[in-house]
Amino acid sequence: MSQKLQPVRGTKDILIEEHRLFSHVVNAARRVAGLYGFDEVATPIFEFTDVFKRTLGDESDVVSKEMYTFDDRGGESLTLRPEFTAGIARAFVSGGLGNQLPLKLFSSGPVFRYERPQKGRQRQFHQVNFEMLGAAEPVADIEAIALGAQLLETLGVADRIALQINSLGDTQSRDNYRAALVEYLSDYKSELSEDSKVRLEKNPMRILDSKDEGDRKIIAGAPVISGYYTDEATDFFAQVTEGLDMLGIKYTRNNHLVRGLDYYCHTAFEFTTEALGAQNAVLAGGRYDGLIGTMGGPQTPAVGFAGGIERLMALIDRQVVRSRPVALIPIGERAEKEALVLAHTLRGEGFYVELAYSGNVKKRMKKANNTNAIAAVIFGDEELDNGVVKVKAFDNGDEAAVTPDQLLDRLGAFKGG
Ligand code: HAM
Repeated sequence: MSQKLQPVRGTKDILIEEHRLFSHVVNAARRVAGLYGFDEVATPIFEFTDVFKRTLGDESDVVSKEMYTFDDRGGESLTLRPEFTAGIARAFVSGGLGNQLPLKLFSSGPVFRYERPQKGRQRQFHQVNFEMLGAAEPVADIEAIALGAQLLETLGVADRIALQINSLGDTQSRDNYRAALVEYLSDYKSELSEDSKVRLEKNPMRILDSKDEGDRKIIAGAPVISGYYTDEATDFFAQVTEGLDMLGIKYTRNNHLVRGLDYYCHTAFEFTTEALGAQNAVLAGGRYDGLIGTMGGPQTPAVGFAGGIERLMALIDRQVVRSRPVALIPIGERAEKEALVLAHTLRGEGFYVELAYSGNVKKRMKKANNTNAIAAVIFGDEELDNGVVKVKAFDNGDEAAVTPDQLLDRLGAFKGG
């Protein structure tokens, strides 16, 4: 029975302090998205299973092993979203948004994958997600990556993160590459894992994603995609990297970066960290020109990425995130009543106010300091008779008696500092 009172394995409550951090990440993402002209959208948490199955790739780990799929009471096969992109593409097609291009769409919310839980990996996690639809030019790839870099800067975690990029080429490049890969892998067919034997027939590029050790040894000697680009694909990627160079965004070229979902072409990228053990990708995405067409919509080039909110939270300096209150410390009954009014006024002016009624003044001051208050406002009968309050700044210990009119200015100055 008691086990049933635990959250389900791979899920977590996001309580108080954690939620403050969570909101901080989402707010920062929304703000930075705003600088790039994104609008916000929300799509359902579950979709018809086909929305994901047909687009992410039958042989991908996400579809073959990780989806939360169930029949509803009407017998429809539904799936909890394992990512945002396919659902947004579905909304784009079913909402007939094709005549509003280009679109830049920001979303955030829970995502579900049945993976083995470990540090930085959950079964219900949360993403901030960015999609640019109707964006054929390499400048969109550059902007997507720049947005990601700016988000990491804003959150103060950029110095712990590196950017890896690759190009998966266009359809022709991938056809050429797939043929070469199959030729190479066929020689090792009997040594491949069972999963990879199936993939060899159905979707050989997914073998590059395999975590099986035997497979990994074979893959190490496999041809890499960069040898099979068409001139157009080479040129497209050169324009992306040139743009990143112009913006001073540092990256490493990683020939082995193929991403775990089938819909990608051209640019693929991951911002990774060494701070989270094996789960190293923090933001990841790329271009997916074919996805909307595959769904039966108009051919619509697109590029985007998603960030794992929990992974970003794990990297943030928590101290920075807490907002700082003004502590009101009234002494005596009359002051307590006045404090209620003063708290109301200060909150109306946008201050975060904590009312500290109980305990002696020393204790209350200590508590205020522990909540990292910017200042304490202290007053009893004597101050009220003189029409002043005492203000003590916690950072530098400055103390002054000020009139209620001067109080806002004085607190404002602390706030700025
Ligand atoms: P993804 O690489 O599968 O891409 O996931 C994006 C990010 O979600 C990862 O980099 C990671 O931070 C986080 N993440 C993934 N799985 C877990 C997990 N089990 N626990 C915690 N965090 C996790 C996508 O989802 C694509 N839809 C991104 C995209 C958008 N591509 C184009 N547009």
